[in-house]
Amino acid sequence: MTAIEIRNKFLNYFKSKGHQIIPSAPLIPENDPSVLFTTAGMHPLVPYLLGEKHPEGTRIVDYQKCLRTVDIDEVGDNRHLTFFEMLGNWSLGDYFKEDSIKYSMEFLTKELNIPIEKLSVTCFEGDNDAPRDEETAKLWQEVGMPKERIYYFGKEDNWWIAGDEGPCGPDTEIFYDTGKAPCSDRCNPSCGCGKYVEIWNNVFMEYCKNADGTYTKLKQQNVDTGLGLERMNMLLQGKETPFDTEIFKPMMDKLETLAKNDSIESRRIVAEHLRASMMVIADGGRPSNIDRGYILRRLIRRMIRHLNKLGIDLNNLKDLINLNIEILGEMYSELISNREAIINTIIEEKEKFIKTLENGEKELQKELNKLKEKNVDILSAEEVFRLYETYGFPQEVTKEIAEESGFKVDLETFDKLFEEHQKKSRLGSEQKFKGGLADQSPETIAYHTATHLLNAALKVVISSDVHQKGSNITAERMRFDFSCDHKLTDEEKKQVEDLVNKWIDEGLPVTVEEMEKEKAINSGAECMFIEKYPDIVTVYSIGNVSKELCGGPHVKNTNELGKFVIKKEEASSAGVRRIKAILIK
Ligand code: ALA
Repeated sequence: MTAIEIRNKFLNYFKSKGHQIIPSAPLIPENDPSVLFTTAGMHPLVPYLLGEKHPEGTRIVDYQKCLRTVDIDEVGDNRHLTFFEMLGNWSLGDYFKEDSIKYSMEFLTKELNIPIEKLSVTCFEGDNDAPRDEETAKLWQEVGMPKERIYYFGKEDNWWIAGDEGPCGPDTEIFYDTGKAPCSDRCNPSCGCGKYVEIWNNVFMEYCKNADGTYTKLKQQNVDTGLGLERMNMLLQGKETPFDTEIFKPMMDKLETLAKNDSIESRRIVAEHLRASMMVIADGGRPSNIDRGYILRRLIRRMIRHLNKLGIDLNNLKDLINLNIEILGEMYSELISNREAIINTIIEEKEKFIKTLENGEKELQKELNKLKEKNVDILSAEEVFRLYETYGFPQEVTKEIAEESGFKVDLETFDKLFEEHQKKSRLGSEQKFKGGLADQSPETIAYHTATHLLNAALKVVISSDVHQKGSNITAERMRFDFSCDHKLTDEEKKQVEDLVNKWIDEGLPVTVEEMEKEKAINSGAECMFIEKYPDIVTVYSIGNVSKELCGGPHVKNTNELGKFVIKKEEASSAGVRRIKAILIK
């Protein structure tokens, strides 16, 4: 059986039990800024678990694309994947434990023909928040599971929640016995030795965890199940790793023929990260330095590093992408319809990365030489961070090169510095999106639009190199800082003032649109701190005289502004001038 056949079998089986098939939601959650990627089938369904009516009814079956990056550094071993597909059947306040267990058992043993001897299950052992789930254990026995293969574990193993709060509940996990020898007398499904592989998780979602850590019952009893497709595929084909199945094998083989220095770990990383990046790009993701874009950038760059390690010419990338579309296009038609975007995005990122590597490596070598002279053998986290921040040089590469030259590297402290940096960037962009305009009176809004006109006028009158360095607005006046190497002459001030007033008199429309950040920048939109914006930005245009990334709000038409008068022009700091101005109605 192939992965796509397993998917179809699953969908059809649950369809025959009255479930409606719904397609996978995108990897990039719609309208949910709280998570970077869809990490489980439940994400797109949360409102329905909480009681909202699903348009398709109370029984749903789905196949959901997921991306989990917590284990990104483990990819390369024989089982970890970042991108995977989760098959799931859902009861939204419809059936509960009994049918859920019956369906799972029937599907595994009758549809997939897995001998029941291969299966064992785990149940929740109970604690102060919820009782021991003996009901589930009993139901398993009723469908033929021998008592000795039913185990009880605590919250860590048998309780499911996405994140810190929200819908959750005890779960029962189904394990497949690979036939390997037990690791000890106490070998069991949760020992992690590899004898038992988890194949399916049935969550009985009847609780909600509140922000204060307490649990309350949900309005309805739900079932949320998740069956990992790649893993099931591997087991049914009797393979040791998902990389030996049809999903990865042709790519693994191709990489082997191209590699000059073969390493199976590197080939797995390339195959896995290439598939994951392509899926993210097909769903609209683009590389950047924060959040989703950063994860994608990391996936692509790590893949390229391992192509380099394998000695594979990067000019093969396009062929590798096309090969993956051939392998996966039937399962994910979005790869076919986004072929061009996928190729262009990955190739562009490759070009950027090559430049980054060249510059960063030179810098790193300089630093290592300095340390050697001083007989220091530790490269500090601050230095690793500086290389990352200034040159975009990846921490993993820094570590590798430094360690090759005998240096120790403190990546743990780096991670802390990095987290702080990301937090600040996010805060920056959130603030930016408030537009720095806590007071949204008509006066401050008018001044806000006036700063855009002033910015544009300075570029015309002084130089296109003038850029905004800051602004401060109240209901009474505006202050605008900009880069400029000289004190403005009276003539320049007058020309700037006249030009702003001319645009005001012309009654130019102010329009707003959303677009991808890169597109916005390429179209010439102004912005102060490019890296502080999310991937999708709002762009305000005034007639065709001004275009800026900005959170707004703004007036609808420049004729609402009144007369613009410059009150003062002075130095703000080195190379930065400041204009104070007012609008007279
Ligand atoms: N939501 C459950 C999981 O991800 C099914 O394991």
